[in-house]
Amino acid sequence: MTERRKIIIDTDPGQDDAAAIMLALASPELEVLGLTAVAGNVPLRLTSRNVRIICELSNRTDVPVYEGAERPLVREPITAEHVHGSTGLDGADFDEPTMPVQDQHAVDFIIETLLREPAGTVTLCTLGALTNIATALNKAPEIAPRVKELVMMGGGYFEGGNITPAAEFNIYVDPQAADIVFRSGIPIVMMPLDVTHKLLTTKERVAKIRDIGTRPALAMVGMLEFFERFDVEKYGSDGGPLHDPSVIAYLIKPELFTGRDCNVEIEVSSELTIGATVVDWWHVTDRKRNARVMGGVDADGFFALLTERFARL
Ligand code: RIB
Ligand code: CA
Repeated sequence: MTERRKIIIDTDPGQDDAAAIMLALASPELEVLGLTAVAGNVPLRLTSRNVRIICELSNRTDVPVYEGAERPLVREPITAEHVHGSTGLDGADFDEPTMPVQDQHAVDFIIETLLREPAGTVTLCTLGALTNIATALNKAPEIAPRVKELVMMGGGYFEGGNITPAAEFNIYVDPQAADIVFRSGIPIVMMPLDVTHKLLTTKERVAKIRDIGTRPALAMVGMLEFFERFDVEKYGSDGGPLHDPSVIAYLIKPELFTGRDCNVEIEVSSELTIGATVVDWWHVTDRKRNARVMGGVDADGFFALLTERFARL
């Protein structure tokens, strides 16, 4: 087997984050160097708790968990309990985790890891606001050229926004952080709502996960059936968009996705459109094409991968 790809997952669980983390922990192609929690869907205290719950559910308490930013760089914190429930992992019952949080701050872990590992060998996978990454870049700008790739769930263009008409939640939580990251020169792969709205947890797909029958799979089904209710009501769709596992699936099977290199800039001023990801999809400017923006996905192939890997936990 080729060398395992070293990754750090920065996350704000969230049921869809949980699916992404479980996919990563079940995939031998990936070496998860650490999981860093950030405030987002629910406050940091809960995202940290939830990361550890998912590690224990996946029988992977060997992976270190770190706590990062409690709040965005500039804006007031916002959360999404209306989507994820009060715990952030509503839909399944979990005991409180017993595995520890590392003493080191997540930002220092990210910096230390990028400076220690050979340049160009560590991939950052972000599933929440970009606060931890932006803080690390502010503290140690020398890490930017050492990042192999930053694969992030966030933004939207043709699909608009999901927390405001213009903005997707992860970007909207901390637009200043997103602006720093998109200007950093790090090679970015962006999984926007334009992709994730094509990844619907239909009844048929959820039934295949339920058929696995294991505790991790059944817990995931419970979480998905809770998580999707908000979007089913909002979009009138069969199932809700499963956002975050797109990041991990890209690392394992990039051929599932299609996209193009574009300039992406973040609205940080207008209160009407703050957090919007302005994507030059049609290349009408000569601005730097700083991100590979995904637009298409083989949804059946994605769920087949997810189901096959969940069965390994
Ligand atoms: O807008 C969807 C994103 O916001 C997902 O990452 C979800 O978990 C929330 O963080
Ligand atoms: Ca998330």
